[in-house]
Amino acid sequence: MKNNRRSLLATLVAASFVVMAPMSAFAEKKIVLGFSQIGAESEWRTANTNSIKETAAKEGIDLKFSDAQQKQENQIKALRSFIAQKVDVIAFAPVVESGWDTVLKEIKAAKIPVILTDRSVDSKDTSLYVTFMGSDFTEEGRKAGRWLVEKAKTMKGDINVVELQGTVGSGPAIDRKKGFEEIIKAEPRIKIIRSQTGDFTRAKGKEVMEAFLKAEGKKINVLYAHNDDMAIGAIQAIEEAGLKPSKDITIISVDAVKGAFEAMMAGKLDVTVECSPLLGPQLMSAVKDLMAGKTLPRRIVTVEGIFPMEVAAKEFPNRKY
Ligand code: AHR
Repeated sequence: MKNNRRSLLATLVAASFVVMAPMSAFAEKKIVLGFSQIGAESEWRTANTNSIKETAAKEGIDLKFSDAQQKQENQIKALRSFIAQKVDVIAFAPVVESGWDTVLKEIKAAKIPVILTDRSVDSKDTSLYVTFMGSDFTEEGRKAGRWLVEKAKTMKGDINVVELQGTVGSGPAIDRKKGFEEIIKAEPRIKIIRSQTGDFTRAKGKEVMEAFLKAEGKKINVLYAHNDDMAIGAIQAIEEAGLKPSKDITIISVDAVKGAFEAMMAGKLDVTVECSPLLGPQLMSAVKDLMAGKTLPRRIVTVEGIFPMEVAAKEFPNRKY
């Protein structure tokens, strides 16, 4: 009797193995995504990285993440290593617009689809990537310009602007400048008297603002910074020069990170144009759609707003980055 029970148990265990084995053998293979990030130059970038990592983990996507420390050569190396690893999809935020054709052609030859996130490339051959998802940087520049043209109605005489540009050759630096200039043309009193790169970092923003202040001093009426980090660095320089940010110099920036809201609540920054870094969900759903054989739209634009100082305290609790 005991022996019979034992052999029945053995049969059941064996049977369960027969049932289990094929299940694990056919367990769904994870999608492998190679992502080359620019670096960690700003509060925005950190939020962007977190969004991508968190969503990949949540969606069960095997993410191979590489940080290029703001160097194009490092990004190219990372892209080549993704080819060697035979990942399913490659996504990257190109630090600058040009110089990608060779590596993109190598990826195309390896039959790996490419998604551009945040920034685009200037390649003539648009078949080298499937889609570009991210903000409309020109429109962000226009929003900043429209805000200033409106504000100019309350200002007297010439309005001298100093501009802190983002990384030289990057999409957001080129387009935010273009969009801003396009709008301020309508008000001839607004003049850009100095414009230089602050490379999207606080340290550089401060350093360049110090130089602007040394050269132009009290002639400066407005600072237009291509991102919040540079604006925050510049605010420090303005205070150290004995001037009051927002009172003596109107400050406009882009991104709408928490640090900018804190500066606005402290009365030191006038307005920030939103540029959302929370691209993780969009990216992972595009990756899944691609793997399911769906066709993606060529351009996926992020919807964004603009936040002046007056709404900062009310909006702050809702900010996610
Ligand atoms: O490409 C987006 C820009 O890059 C953000 O405005 C800036 O903060 C970041 O470093």
